[in-house]
Amino acid sequence: MLTNLRILLIISGGIAAYKSLELIRGLRAGGAEVRPILTKGGAEFVTPLSVAALAREKVHGDLFSLTGESEIGHIRLARETDLVVVAPATANILAKMANGIADDLATTVLLATDRPILVAPAMNSVMWEQASTRRNMARLEADGVMTVGPGHGELAEGEIGIGRMAEPAEILAAIEKALGGPLAGLRALVTSGPTHEPIDPVRYIANRSSGKQGHAIAGACARLGAAVTLVSGPSAESDPPGVETVHVETARDMLAACLDALPVDVAICAAAVSDWRPAAARGQKIKKGAGGAGGAPPAALELIENPDILAALAARENDRPRLVIGFAAETDDVVAYARAKLAAKGCDWILANDVSPGSGTFGGDHNKVHLISAQGAGEASVEEWPHASKLDVAARLAERIAGVLGGASGGAS
Ligand code: CTP
Repeated sequence: MLTNLRILLIISGGIAAYKSLELIRGLRAGGAEVRPILTKGGAEFVTPLSVAALAREKVHGDLFSLTGESEIGHIRLARETDLVVVAPATANILAKMANGIADDLATTVLLATDRPILVAPAMNSVMWEQASTRRNMARLEADGVMTVGPGHGELAEGEIGIGRMAEPAEILAAIEKALGGPLAGLRALVTSGPTHEPIDPVRYIANRSSGKQGHAIAGACARLGAAVTLVSGPSAESDPPGVETVHVETARDMLAACLDALPVDVAICAAAVSDWRPAAARGQKIKKGAGGAGGAPPAALELIENPDILAALAARENDRPRLVIGFAAETDDVVAYARAKLAAKGCDWILANDVSPGSGTFGGDHNKVHLISAQGAGEASVEEWPHASKLDVAARLAERIAGVLGGASGGAS
């Protein structure tokens, strides 16, 4: 189950650190590679020697170790892993994670990683229930950090309460769950947000897309275990945790980034790509009138069509994703237009959403969707989904994708 998976294990300073030695043993027995980081506090409870001996790996501990940085830098440590596990996770390290503080190797790696994170909190029950820790845990959950435990029982000080780190077997089960979702072993590509098409150095053509739906879909697919590349146009949304996000500006950049991400098992095009771009973006700011004087009639903007990313992905010959999904943003005759779009673009499913004024879809947090799927040469089938939050629509879509592609067999390589 854990064969060949790479786990970056951060051991922070708590009495439960001794249980992390048992966790390393279990991970290795399951076939995983374990790269350990021992914080300064962690090293007060377990020795680097015992961690290294069990992990059969060098123990990393000091951000500014020059030999460490030349052998394997903190960015590589953060990226070359399938999952980051913090066990035990003290109230202190959780607080730093929740606030993006990076003041040692462990917290720098946690800030620099784009891989999923699982924490196993361990602390005194009063610390666990403290308002600040509650706020930090809520923040981390919203950021997509997964948690196992803590349990109820005898604590270090002899008190009974909540705060005991989950047992190694529970942490192993949580790791397997985190890495073994129904999309595990599959690769997904998601486009999101608008594109910006430059007119001159200060102006561009854009649209009102927020990127909320596309980003939510990328996050939902990652939570089910897919390796996700999100290609995002300019958006105020933050990069979803556990997702490789590529930031682009124009439709042509977006297409290039999507082709770079191939092969994938599923492509979901949620971006509101600008259909046209100025035929030639000017190198200098266009002035109001010739010579800079105002009052002259505005220059006509010549537009040319942008590449259609969805159609391009659906038309790939050798590396077509097994499932190509598009969106149709319509203001009227939603289903009829979406059916036509499904056929015209050659995709497998279209999620049709109503973006008419008053629907609140663009920029809002909710969406009303019809799923239209191509069924052989015959009539496309239509499924109406209830009005729901964009997060719920994303979760439902990810589940539907898992229903069709689920299981690692035949994954894109
Ligand atoms: N799309 C794309 N590349 C484009 C235009 C659209 O990948 N250049 C994708 C969108 O991400 C979406 C689907 O095509 O998945 C439909 O986009 P939409 O804007 O609704 O339709 P258009 O093809 O632009 O047609 P129209 O504007 O006429 O409705």
